[in-house]
Amino acid sequence: MPAKTPVSSFNAPSVSPANQAEELRQTIRHHEQQYYVLDSPEITDAEYDVLVRRLQQLETEHPELLTPDSPTQRVGGKPREGVQKLAHSSPMLSLDNALDEGELRAFDARVRELLGGAEFRYVAELKMDGLSLATRYNDGKFTKAITRGDGSIGEDVTENARTIRSVPLKTRGTPETAAVFEIRGEVVMNRLAFERLNSDREEQGLSRFANPRNAAAGSLRLLEPGVTASRRLEYYAYFLLDEAGRPLFDSHWQSLDWMAEHGFKVNPKRRICNNVDEALEFCREWEAEREKLPYEIDGVVIKVDSVPQQVQLGYTAKAPRWAIAFKYAARQVETEITGIVVQVGRTGALTPVAILAPKVVSGVTVSRATLHNEDEIARLGLQIGDTVIVERSGDVIPKVVRVKMQGTYRKPFQMPVECPVCGGRVVREEGEAASRCINMNCPARLKESIRHFASRGVMSIDGLGDALIDQLVDSGLVGGVADLYKLTVEQLVGLERMGMKSATNVIQNIDRSRFMPMPRVISALGIRFVGERTAELLAEHFGTMERLAGATPEELQQAQEVGPKVAESIFAFFHEPQNQQLLDRLKSAGLMFEHLVRRRSGGPLTGLTFVLTGTMPNLTRDEAKFRIEAAGGKVSAAVSRKTSFVVAGEEAGSKLEKARELNVPVIGEPELVAMLPETR
Ligand code: IVH
Repeated sequence: MPAKTPVSSFNAPSVSPANQAEELRQTIRHHEQQYYVLDSPEITDAEYDVLVRRLQQLETEHPELLTPDSPTQRVGGKPREGVQKLAHSSPMLSLDNALDEGELRAFDARVRELLGGAEFRYVAELKMDGLSLATRYNDGKFTKAITRGDGSIGEDVTENARTIRSVPLKTRGTPETAAVFEIRGEVVMNRLAFERLNSDREEQGLSRFANPRNAAAGSLRLLEPGVTASRRLEYYAYFLLDEAGRPLFDSHWQSLDWMAEHGFKVNPKRRICNNVDEALEFCREWEAEREKLPYEIDGVVIKVDSVPQQVQLGYTAKAPRWAIAFKYAARQVETEITGIVVQVGRTGALTPVAILAPKVVSGVTVSRATLHNEDEIARLGLQIGDTVIVERSGDVIPKVVRVKMQGTYRKPFQMPVECPVCGGRVVREEGEAASRCINMNCPARLKESIRHFASRGVMSIDGLGDALIDQLVDSGLVGGVADLYKLTVEQLVGLERMGMKSATNVIQNIDRSRFMPMPRVISALGIRFVGERTAELLAEHFGTMERLAGATPEELQQAQEVGPKVAESIFAFFHEPQNQQLLDRLKSAGLMFEHLVRRRSGGPLTGLTFVLTGTMPNLTRDEAKFRIEAAGGKVSAAVSRKTSFVVAGEEAGSKLEKARELNVPVIGEPELVAMLPETR
């Protein structure tokens, strides 16, 4: 076996970026060949991933080095060489489009004519904006997933599709109708998952996905199913075929119902329409509501319901004559830039935001659009007073696509030299796109950092919203996140719109956040480039905050997925005296500075297994589990003879019965708490 690639050689400063990129590409291609064609990998998936990421990073930093044949450019287009290709049972066709009412009526006239006056009905479904995927089932069990590819031959993505929760691995009930069948449907990423993925990527210094469809496609075709799993894709079924690729039922509507009954996700927003007017009404209804959907749609698909009639109508060279896609207009609008304001983020980064003459884009009034940074403004060649094209995509914040027309009176934007919030000095470091306010005590930075600290998925402090954060900072009660742990109910009650009840709640939630596991604490610190995933990997690698804080950049790079840039950022963070103070204070506040999965033994509950059931008076299920595990115990879902204790709260159900049956001791919350070590 050839020696492993010395990964570190790519960091050698003497090698030019172009050579590094080429060397990486060759290495990656070699490993892909080994893995996909020869079935004999020489490196682990994670090591492979590191190589790809490094190349991606290099290409992001030096876009001119990007070549069309780079292994990073595999998303979209033809199936990859070396990947297993599979033929579709029948072609996966696309649809003709109707761009307006007239075109839809023309489609309907043709259908009526070809059916020679026979009665028929349509089925209208939302056209979800993702990528189509065929999944095959044998005796009710999932066997294969194939992408559309060129329509006749697709790519085998079985292992990736397996990670999608809405791809049933086994159908519900016995599929009495067919031993072998095929589903066709759409893989989508919902807006929330898309936003989370993009903000994670930003924190890691990776480029953002342009829209949820690209993100879904990129995620499904990843090389590592484990990563696909973390991307939270969804699969909506819209066709049911037999082994030979023919519809299983005579009515499409019936197929949809059948799939829903057997455990597939079928969009409930569908309707039988008796004529084109009803179909058009469905299109209009959802055009007005589309922004409220959790996923993106780009139109409505209208299909003739009866399969015999579908057969009668037949196909053109590329699309069926019995279906059409009614496409919504692109969500772009032309408007004028009336000004540019600057926002200050948690890292002190100044983000220019365009103020627009308000315009309605697909039902939502748009009056601001992010401009990201100075380079982006330069790239667009944009000045205040220009008329621009603004687009709403999956992002919550609209973006400027291009300048349509220069304004008669235009004014160039200048990044302020002083922070618009605190007046502190603004600095743009070499090689950085962002200008930053360097005042660590800038109230804008402070508020943003508290917002980040308290947010869901970080320390998850419910009730600590924007209005409260503003008051806490403005009143001087909180001068840093560590101060949160000193707050009292009395202090909060003194604030605007704070009753006794909400104050008590917030304090309780702050208290509880002390039990958040160490990866959360790491990501709460807001270190640049350290998102959820990196925090997890760091906690795993270093085990304690002390070890992490004391690591050299070289040691940091030993952790998975940490490159030189991220390592430098972590190192710099922990060597800032102000941050060292913050850590001391968070430690004395009782936050988790140890990665508990690491605690092998020695906790007071080592060797004991608990089963939790019912609602406990104080502890939530997660907290109880967390604290038991923190003390070395295990928590299991089912009661067995090996269970040491069943902890029963209110409305405990069958687990309690099972415990009695097996003679397993049953305790309540007070007894459990008594077994746990003091936490502060
Ligand atoms: S029917 C031959 N139904 O839109 C029929 N397609 O160009 C083809 N899509 O490739 C598909 N939602 O990826 C159908 N409810 C739906 C759909 C849908 C999204 C996508 C699909 C297809 C494209 C049509």
